[in-house]
Amino acid sequence: MGKAICFVILSFQIIILSFFVGEICGNKQVRALDNLHKSKLRGGSEIDRRSEFKVEELVHDDDDVIVDSEEEEISLLKEKDKIERLPGQPQVKFSQYGGYITIHKLAGTAFYYYFVEAHQRSKQSLPLLLWLNGGPGCSSLAYGAMQELGPFRVHSDGKTLFKNNYSWNYAANVLFLESPVGVGFSYSNRSSDYSTNGDKKTAVDNYLFLVNWLERFPEYKDRDFYISGESYAGHYVPQLAHTILQLNKKAAKTIINLKGILIGNAVINDETDSEGMYDFLATHAIISDKAAYDINKSCDFASSNQSECDAASSEVDKDISFIDLYNIYAPICKNSNLTAHPKKTSIVIDPCSENYVYAYLNRGDVQEALHANVTNLKYDWQPCSDVITKWLDSPSTVLPLITHFLNNGLRVWIFSGDIDGRVPVTSTKYSIDKLKLPIQTAWHPWFAYGEVGGYTQVYKGNLTFATVRGAGHQVPSYQPQRALSLIKHFLRGTPLPETTRIA
Ligand SMILES: *[C@@H]1O[C@H](CO)[C@@H](O)[C@H](O)[C@H]1NC(C)=O
Ligand SMILES: *[C@@H]1O[C@H](CO)[C@@H](O)[C@H](O)[C@H]1NC(C)=O
Ligand SMILES: *[C@@H]1O[C@H](CO)[C@@H](O)[C@H](O)[C@H]1NC(C)=O
Ligand SMILES: *[C@@H]1O[C@H](CO)[C@@H](O)[C@H](O)[C@H]1NC(C)=O
Ligand SMILES: *[C@@H]1O[C@H](CO)[C@@H](O)[C@H](O)[C@H]1NC(C)=O
Ligand SMILES: *[C@@H]1O[C@H](CO)[C@@H](O)[C@H](O)[C@H]1NC(C)=O
Ligand SMILES: *[C@@H]1O[C@H](CO)[C@@H](O)[C@H](O)[C@H]1NC(C)=O
Repeated sequence: MGKAICFVILSFQIIILSFFVGEICGNKQVRALDNLHKSKLRGGSEIDRRSEFKVEELVHDDDDVIVDSEEEEISLLKEKDKIERLPGQPQVKFSQYGGYITIHKLAGTAFYYYFVEAHQRSKQSLPLLLWLNGGPGCSSLAYGAMQELGPFRVHSDGKTLFKNNYSWNYAANVLFLESPVGVGFSYSNRSSDYSTNGDKKTAVDNYLFLVNWLERFPEYKDRDFYISGESYAGHYVPQLAHTILQLNKKAAKTIINLKGILIGNAVINDETDSEGMYDFLATHAIISDKAAYDINKSCDFASSNQSECDAASSEVDKDISFIDLYNIYAPICKNSNLTAHPKKTSIVIDPCSENYVYAYLNRGDVQEALHANVTNLKYDWQPCSDVITKWLDSPSTVLPLITHFLNNGLRVWIFSGDIDGRVPVTSTKYSIDKLKLPIQTAWHPWFAYGEVGGYTQVYKGNLTFATVRGAGHQVPSYQPQRALSLIKHFLRGTPLPETTRIA
């Protein structure tokens, strides 16, 4: 499996090969973002990063499924999507659903979702939360559901599950979506759709998914709705939120009851995101000060001409090749083989867990239980897509969208696992500084379970920034308790606790 992944990555079309020669293998999410980043900076890149994200008219062709009212027996569809029990699953007291929502009829495009309701007694009172992973091209089932905040994690045998005691369905009804088309089990029968993905199309398709999903689960139509995600979802989340706000406004009614967004270790502003990365690496003794200085001098992260910059970056490539950049202190996966019996589990993620998830989700009995892969796709399920070959647009910043949300009373929280070296806390701080917002509540530690959970600062307009201490890029994988505490406060709209007394 480890070898297969390396091979797959090298054959991914938009990669710049030199960057990861001699890389450690295992985590595909790590690669996907680099592929995009490098190709955005490469001279002559075809990716459109200049135009700001706008919901143009959202002109639908006739093929878009706006609301699929032809499906009269919608409630039956919901019952069909109910997952009785996943293979190897411990007993639980909440309901799970999984299935497809058609978003383009003629093309035959369908998005796969996995939905876990909150623990029984509170499911009616708790909000609906959508979680998106980034990449672009990575699956929310692979990371969000199975390795971060979902109710289960996969044992090292690749066939049984154990409970995540800090699952976010203690705080919300959580919806995981594999998006855009070509990710995980989400597919299109028109193969050209795999080469036309980009930020704009993803936002529109995610929107079409949501309106149709709400038809199948009408009890959630009026529920408070929040969107969350990490990494490249720093694009997806604000872009989907913007689409929802614009279309609510256009319809002069609340089609989707969006209340807020939460993004972590998020790509939001290319220039400061890149500067912050090299600063972090230099101040954490991973690259030399000279390399950081040279890079800052010769790289213009706002432009696309990086020839001198590439030379300056070569030391960096060597320095980071053998650590997990997404958690600079984490052990790496040394043996990706499955084990005959489950290894002892802990609440912190096993560095080889991606391999266990890969094995589990490719099992026929698991796919059947999930109601996934019903059309027998020709390729295997992958944590990050191999079939998406191109990315058409990726604006260099989403900060104008954030400003717009703050002006429209949407709750915005930006968090950061403070030992991620890829989209590190320095990047996020520099990017937020670009918003030039006055401070409302000064920087202070916040507490969870009797310890410092991280540090926080609140800006005027209700933007909350919070670090999560000791967490890598996938925050709930490394600090599940602190992450659960964070999401609870976000959803309740309460400030993070300033003392141990109330945490
Ligand atoms: C895609 O094609 C398969 C096989 O013809 C069909 O069963 C399926 O319903 C199609 N998917 C969509 C979303 O129309
Ligand atoms: C990078 O260079 C700019 C000037 O070009 C300077 O203002 C900034 O402080 C430098 N940053 C670092 C981390 O050296
Ligand atoms: C890119 O930068 C190099 C070095 O500064 C310069 O020689 C080259 O002409 C530039 N290319 C473009 C397309 O601007
Ligand atoms: C993993 O399994 C393969 C095939 O069974 C075996 O050849 C290899 O030595 C194993 N790797 C480790 C590190 O145990
Ligand atoms: C989860 O909680 C249960 C019950 O308190 C405990 O037995 C189990 O060991 C915990 N699991 C993990 C992985 O910590
Ligand atoms: C779908 O199922 C087929 C077997 O019917 C399998 O070969 C393929 O790997 C699966 N694809 C995905 C994406 O799960
Ligand atoms: C910020 O939040 C507070 C408390 O939740 C609320 O009273 C206030 O109206 C909010 N301000 C803005 C600008 O949304």
